[in-house]
Amino acid sequence: MKVVVLGTGHVGLVTSATLAKIGHEVVGVDSDPQKIAQLRKGEAPFFEPGLQDLLDEVIKKGSLKFSETATDAVPGSDVAFICVGTPGRPDGEANLLAVEQAAHDIAKHATGDIVVVQKSTVPVHTAERVKTTMSRTSPHVFHLVSNPEFLREGSAVEDSLKPERILVGADEKEAHRIVRELYSPLLNDDVEYHATDLRTAELAKHACNAFLAMKISFANALARICEAARADVVSIADIMGSDSRIGRAFLNAGLGYGGYCFPKDVAAFRAQAERLGFDFGLLTEVMKINAGALDAAFLKVKEAVWNLEGKRIVLFGLAFKPGTDDVREAPALYLAERLREAGAIVVGHDPQANETAKELMSSIEVFDDPYEAADGAHCVVICTEWSEFSDLDLTRLKGIMTHPVIVDGRNVFDPSTMEEAGFTYLPTGRPPVNL
Ligand code: UGA
Repeated sequence: MKVVVLGTGHVGLVTSATLAKIGHEVVGVDSDPQKIAQLRKGEAPFFEPGLQDLLDEVIKKGSLKFSETATDAVPGSDVAFICVGTPGRPDGEANLLAVEQAAHDIAKHATGDIVVVQKSTVPVHTAERVKTTMSRTSPHVFHLVSNPEFLREGSAVEDSLKPERILVGADEKEAHRIVRELYSPLLNDDVEYHATDLRTAELAKHACNAFLAMKISFANALARICEAARADVVSIADIMGSDSRIGRAFLNAGLGYGGYCFPKDVAAFRAQAERLGFDFGLLTEVMKINAGALDAAFLKVKEAVWNLEGKRIVLFGLAFKPGTDDVREAPALYLAERLREAGAIVVGHDPQANETAKELMSSIEVFDDPYEAADGAHCVVICTEWSEFSDLDLTRLKGIMTHPVIVDGRNVFDPSTMEEAGFTYLPTGRPPVNL
């Protein structure tokens, strides 16, 4: 099929490449000329494992092309995907201006009836609004589909090529038929295919993200209790996780959830619930506990080094999670700001995200080498659980630090190893060592 994808961010680009790989003719559109220039040269504009290889393959094959405008890309397409950003507004609601613009672009340039697939995370009833918007300006018929994406940064290519589930919401049989055919090369016995109405699909995506965020906040609340009681949150998460009704995933206490999705999606879900007449107070608590995880880490650094003024604090891990160079809403950057405000000298190191971190926060000095970053440090804070950090040479690290203090915001180290290595070690939700 001929497919146009509006938006070449993490979701749009990976979706474009996947659809091209499974045999469709795809054009990715983005209004950012720099990004399109980079993509036309065949370069991935962000780090994502496996993405560059996939792009090389589909661009060489000629099945994925890029354009700066919808003008040339939309005409003749069978399916148009909307994969533009839906950032949060100050009141928590999603900002849907880019979705509206994409709808206008498709309506203006469509040369016939077309299936419009909404992949951006949006509040319930957005597809209906998109359809109304398009029908006001075009004589063609638009078959609206909600097809929320479940890929995770850091494993986006794998998630997209081998999805656990595909969710397709539509109110017309024909739209369901076309999208099922589009995805047919990906379907096998391991893939759960959910076909629903439009509104159910839109709400399901928010429900999934909010539930996962709730699990993380539950673990972080437990961590605060464990710290007060001198118990071990990791063991409790293991015990809870061994109950198949609970599951171990997303019970890791730490600095809380960050990234482009959870923070804005939890707020947007709460806001839309309120608009629909339901006070989703549970989500208010989820957000409060998430912010509290950062407060707890800040206080631990303060507790360990005493006065922060002039102290060198090293943040290991600047990306919001391992496997990505994405620093949007990264807990590390919030912590950096807080520590700087308190007078500390904050430096950082990340195996992938040094450059993106500098773009977003020019005041932070970053080092490619973790030992250079830690030289003379009064405290190291582990902010992202990259495997590189658990493999650090602890003797070397201790030798170069001014004070051997580690605040472990992701519980990457074994407390007994830290005790033996002679560090003052403050993990999350576990008893401190040598304090
Ligand atoms: C999340 C969802 O997991 C995807 O299914 C969804 O498609 C995506 O949002 C989206 O809406 O686009 P992502 O934001 O890439 O994916 O990352 P996650 O792996 O979900 O992690 C989110 C945050 O939670 C990270 O900051 C991570 O460090 C944190 N986290 C995760 C914890 O603090 N504890 C955990 O146990 C798990």
